Amino acid sequence: MNSKEKLAVFGGQSAMPEGIERTRWPRYNDSELEELCRVLREEQIGGCDAPQILKLEEEWSQKIGTPYCCAVGSGTAALHMALWAAGIGKGDEVLVPAYTFLSGALSVLHQGAVPIFVDIQPDSYNMDPSQIEKCITPKTKAIIPVHLGGLPADMDEINTIAKKYGLVVIEDAAHAPGAIYKGKMVGNLADASALSINAMKNLPAGEAGIFSTQHQEFFDRIDGLWLRVRFHKPREEMKYPLATLGYNYRCSVIAAALARGQLARLDELNGTRRQLCERLSAQLDRIPGVIPPHVPTDRTHAYHLYRVRFDPKSVGLQVPPSEFRAKVVAALGAEGVLCRAWMNWIIPSLPIFTKPETFESQYPWQRPWQQNYTYKPQDYPEAIKLVQETSLVMEAPTAANKKIIDYIANGFWKVFSQLDAVMKLDLPPELLDGGTANLEEIQKLLGVARPTF
Ligand SMILES: Cc1ncc(COP(=O)(O)O)c(C=O)c1O
Repeated sequence: MNSKEKLAVFGGQSAMPEGIERTRWPRYNDSELEELCRVLREEQIGGCDAPQILKLEEEWSQKIGTPYCCAVGSGTAALHMALWAAGIGKGDEVLVPAYTFLSGALSVLHQGAVPIFVDIQPDSYNMDPSQIEKCITPKTKAIIPVHLGGLPADMDEINTIAKKYGLVVIEDAAHAPGAIYKGKMVGNLADASALSINAMKNLPAGEAGIFSTQHQEFFDRIDGLWLRVRFHKPREEMKYPLATLGYNYRCSVIAAALARGQLARLDELNGTRRQLCERLSAQLDRIPGVIPPHVPTDRTHAYHLYRVRFDPKSVGLQVPPSEFRAKVVAALGAEGVLCRAWMNWIIPSLPIFTKPETFESQYPWQRPWQQNYTYKPQDYPEAIKLVQETSLVMEAPTAANKKIIDYIANGFWKVFSQLDAVMKLDLPPELLDGGTANLEEIQKLLGVARPTF
């Protein structure tokens, strides 16, 4: 370990050798691309009854063990469809995590319902079941846990509370296809689930999503929401159903074909991710001040995102955690290790919640809640701590190249064994929040030599 080598941010050699093959995602192999061309040449490439769409629905249904599946245009559409299918409407309250991607809370708004935020656990970053009951009122109708970053949420605890209060549970499975919780597949752990299969996800198909449910009555209801165009129907009004609100949530056949190829390899691709991430965790675990992801033994992690947490106090530093993070991110970036503070805001701090009157004056939209709903970010201390203080996310390594893991770990060793020097860095303002998401940009702002990748 060359941990005392001169840091790249001060002109030393980068920990990442030149020319190394970087993570590239998605990765479609030749037979997937050939199959896509065949579909384009030979098959029906539009409509909800195209063979690729029907086969994707059937294969996802079989994979997770849920009887009813529907391929749609995005994960957000799948979430909205799940809320509609569950009968969530105007004035209903739906519990969502305070920290996640925006879509869960916003799709609640799309139904005229009110998102109520639940704080997160400090180690899994998922919705904290111990915080749920205090958020429940007579208006509460549903809970949307998210398997954040790929780690399944505490579904047993969440389902038990839901049962006690008669609530529907909708999994946001976007980050965790293929992950297993107590022997069951993510996507089949609740009344319904929504999956995103956009290009960044573990099951990447460009832009698309899949809604699934255990309940026939949920499934029967979905056609009221969208214009489900089916070519193979004998009459026009059957091709274009008339009793519908008519959202266009149709899934592209190109996306479905790509998703099917990746679904066939999902376990293999997730396995590579897991192997590399576990190798990285084993190395980072030995570095004082770095806390790798915690994975309970009763579930697997899909490692859509690989999040490390920092503990500056444990290495005797009294630096404000946000400053610590910004400097470490910059020093790691100079070493060729891309980290960033992924989504360094919490959902209840979005303008639509904190300044709804401004939002209403700019757009043709009105808040579904009365004046008595006010959103205060300080009500979610764990979520706030996570985004303001000490954690960051690296893209989960996916290249079938174990060496890259060792270079990343070496970059961490270098930076963490010279923290006193790192803390003296004078950062350009653009790097102060740790949110810069591009390695070249970090290196340009720091003025360090750019390795060629
Ligand atoms: C946790 C989570 N849920 C839902 C979505 C929405 O998916 P889509 O972008 O396909 O609409 C995303 C998207 O990134 C996400 O990260």
